[in-house]
Amino acid sequence: MKTILITGAGRRLGKDLAEYWLAQGWRVLAHYNTANELASHERLMSFQADLSSADSVLGLCEQLNDWLRANVTQLDGLVHNASCFVPDAVVGDRLRDHAEHVQKHLHVHVGAPYLLMEALKEYWANQAAVVAISDIYSDIPNQRFAAYCASKAGLQNLALSQAQRLAGKVRVNVIQPGPVKFLPEHSEAYRQQVLSQSLIREELGYEAIIDACVYLMNARALTGTVMRVDGGRFVTNRYDQTFVNQTS
Ligand SMILES: NC(=O)c1ccc[n+]([C@@H]2O[C@H](COP(=O)([O-])OP(=O)(O)OC[C@H]3O[C@@H](n4cnc5c(N)ncnc54)[C@H](OP(=O)(O)O)[C@@H]3O)[C@@H](O)[C@H]2O)c1
Repeated sequence: MKTILITGAGRRLGKDLAEYWLAQGWRVLAHYNTANELASHERLMSFQADLSSADSVLGLCEQLNDWLRANVTQLDGLVHNASCFVPDAVVGDRLRDHAEHVQKHLHVHVGAPYLLMEALKEYWANQAAVVAISDIYSDIPNQRFAAYCASKAGLQNLALSQAQRLAGKVRVNVIQPGPVKFLPEHSEAYRQQVLSQSLIREELGYEAIIDACVYLMNARALTGTVMRVDGGRFVTNRYDQTFVNQTS
């Protein structure tokens, strides 16, 4: 039976990814933080950890190690999906609060994936694959979300280093989603504005990311690849910057 580990699998995209692989007959090791909305299943194992804390990640690594060893199981896949998305402005003016804010983003997006890859290195199955979910804003500066963007860029670079390190054993690729699924708090005006800044102009939904993940998990020729799944938003931004409506 094939086995996949998914971080941030308790809700939203991570939950849909877990349900997809359960439906394919895989065993799913689902990491969650606060919320676990996954229905129990005989092939589902859940592990709690706060990925912003090194101690909590070390505890998760130990639990995963124990479980994989006790069940003589190898990992066929891993999706680094868990993410922290807090605008810098909500942090306020205290430098100490900014220290926590940046540390939290860096640990969820870089520290935890680094430690997990290190902890799991003995457990890769033949032809295993890893997908890191980054963001198109890894390659676009955004002053409102500087900690988020910089740490997602870190995740992306880390994944490419791991593609080198694990060459011949594990393929490692990156997906850069655009705004595939709005948060409940996003207003209609915001949604329309964002959609107008893409070429496809539709909320793509999590299926778009699941499709890309499945493709990268199966694509034997791909490692060290960064795939944008953004409805053309990255290109649209560049297009706007060409001042195309200017006549002179
Ligand atoms: N939705 C989009 O349009 C969009 C756009 C660009 C990129 N992405 C990327 O696509 C992925 C999935 O998106 P999403 O919309 O499902 O993201 P999301 O709603 O922000 O969910 C992220 C997951 O990460 C977990 N998480 C947050 N802080 C954590 C922590 N400290 N420790 C451990 N887990 C933590 C959350 O669990 P808790 O709630 O329990 O903390 C949740 O399960 C993310 O990597 C995101 O950055 C999404």
